[in-house]
Amino acid sequence: MESLTTKIALNNGNSIPMFGYGTYKIKDPSEAYNSVKLALKNGYRHIDTAAFYENEKYVANAIKDFMAETHTNREEIFVTSKVWKTELGYDKTLAAFEKTMKEMQMDYLDLYLVHWPASYAFDENWKDTNRQTWKAMMEIYKSGRVKAIGVSNFLTHHLDTIIDMEVIPAVDQIEINPGFLQKDTVDYCKEKDILVEAWSPLGRGKSLAHPLLEALAAKYGRTVAQIILRWEIQHDIVPLPKSVNENRIIENANVFDFELSDEDMSSIDDIEPYGNSGHSPDQP
Ligand code: A2P
Repeated sequence: MESLTTKIALNNGNSIPMFGYGTYKIKDPSEAYNSVKLALKNGYRHIDTAAFYENEKYVANAIKDFMAETHTNREEIFVTSKVWKTELGYDKTLAAFEKTMKEMQMDYLDLYLVHWPASYAFDENWKDTNRQTWKAMMEIYKSGRVKAIGVSNFLTHHLDTIIDMEVIPAVDQIEINPGFLQKDTVDYCKEKDILVEAWSPLGRGKSLAHPLLEALAAKYGRTVAQIILRWEIQHDIVPLPKSVNENRIIENANVFDFELSDEDMSSIDDIEPYGNSGHSPDQP
């Protein structure tokens, strides 16, 4: 049976746990530290942070302390961070990576992502900016200090700006929640063997109140959060739910012992958008 630790292959030969833990908006140092510890204690082995979250240091400390306390090897935990959108371009990306490594004090990261693309909407040289950023990412990857590189919030036209370069992104982390499957980008990624991760998989909690999902929760004897996360998993998308509450951390991970029917999957696919953030990579 699949579980929190089940790994799926990335296009570079490495692998990634199929379910992760998101840390956006957990800024308070002790809350960040404690909630990552809780996630690890409850079996999560894939932790997602970013320079922008201002918690890289506390997230990394929690991982290191958990490893020491439980004799867990570094290889058993998958750690992601990201370069923020003000740091795009070759030199700035290299410098941002050094800053992240200084914050996190880890020998390596499992995945490093470009958090947001440059877009035609606010950068007349957007294609070149994306290519220069990606050149730096490839250099970081080749140094061996990250095991894989990828992008976040890249839609198909942003992916097109770098897809012909030497290394193809291993991952695209985009917003996905019911009503907001971003099918064009998901299909593009599938075709190129780019793994899709979902940020805001529960629509920051906004996606939890929907009559169809409530009916499905009753039908399967699950919570709405579990129905949503199961829907993402069955789409081969890696969800990164965030919670600071231990009961919900456990609840969210308890999605490996039931399956949604094809019909119910389609009905969730067809929900009208309602829980998404409204953030677009083509807005400044
Ligand atoms: P909390 O941290 O208090 O549990 P997303 O992962 O889509 O960004 O959503 C995160 C938001 O959803 C947080 O506000 C979190 O609150 C809440 N949340 C996470 N898991 C659940 C759950 N199982 N049931 C209800 N709310 C949840």
